[in-house]
Amino acid sequence: MIIDLRSDTITKPTPAMREAMANAEVGDDIFGEDPTVNAVETYVAELLGKEAAVYMPSGTMTNQVALRVHTEPGDEIILESEAHIYYYEGGAPAALSGAMCRLIKGDKGIFTATDLESELRPEDPHFPTTKLVCLENTHNRGGGRIFPLSEIEAIARLCQSHHLKLHLDGARFWNACVATGISEADYAKPFDSVSVCFSKGLGAPVGSALVGSQETITRARRFRKMFGGGMRQAGIIAAGALYALKNHRERLLEDHINAKILAKGLQSIEGIAIGEAAAPWAIAPENVQTNIVIFKIKDIPARVLARRLQEIGVLVLATGSHSLRAVTSLMVTQEQIEQVPELVKSVISQ
Ligand SMILES: Cc1ncc(COP(=O)(O)O)c(C=O)c1O
Repeated sequence: MIIDLRSDTITKPTPAMREAMANAEVGDDIFGEDPTVNAVETYVAELLGKEAAVYMPSGTMTNQVALRVHTEPGDEIILESEAHIYYYEGGAPAALSGAMCRLIKGDKGIFTATDLESELRPEDPHFPTTKLVCLENTHNRGGGRIFPLSEIEAIARLCQSHHLKLHLDGARFWNACVATGISEADYAKPFDSVSVCFSKGLGAPVGSALVGSQETITRARRFRKMFGGGMRQAGIIAAGALYALKNHRERLLEDHINAKILAKGLQSIEGIAIGEAAAPWAIAPENVQTNIVIFKIKDIPARVLARRLQEIGVLVLATGSHSLRAVTSLMVTQEQIEQVPELVKSVISQ
């Protein structure tokens, strides 16, 4: 038996989702003629209370298209120091948009309007022109941390007063919504563009969407094509996304419960700490807000622990020299999760 906790991107389509995909009506999406792609775009735009959406192959592409939409080469983007856009997207802001990145060190991925204000530059030809601020909700390297709506609203007000656009990397936006009970429309409102993924916790095999005003999305379609993301009979995969949106959002709460169970179990193990910023080996399962558990191992390198766990069928990711990440998803049951702490304990004590 394999307990795969590497990521929620490992999720596979359920039989009902596969059936929806097999029966999807399709057409040429670049001509705007794929009814299933059109349906998922309309559905997600309405859900987030925005005018339009565009379906794309990946979260990386939706983020990078958004960056290109909001900036011109030489412009500056402000984002958190461990943001996925900066950390894990292959240097794309520089390569695809010619953008400069200015980083704010957050608290597990979260920064405040005051932090942002202190980074804003006066109008001066010495400086790059700042055009865009990006947030991430939930924050991946922050351990699935939720960005509080009130802080987002304060950041949005600051952005408006400085003519800055605000983009959200919402790869796990759905997790933030179900965990807080805040509607998708309310959480999306402060943003000029939101990138959402269907292929993480929602369980669709492929796809993301960029959501925003009609003007933003019309421009995004141009860059999607330019970046090679225009697809043809994409309704086959979009049907999985539509099914996931309609049927899999609420169940994310189960993943959150499982993550808490896992964190509590790991807490009992000598030498393990929960939460990226956990102070000297203190355990804080309350730091686990959604489906990601970041834990630290004191005495052995993280990759060694990950390798040993793999040998007994538990897959986790080493994300730093002594930190590891476990992500719950629809591919793991509560029963499996309950076994993990004992398995980790047995490996550590060897
Ligand atoms: C926060 C965040 N943004 C963006 C992405 C990129 O998504 P994709 O793998 O579909 O390119 C990921 C992927 O895990 C992510 O965690």
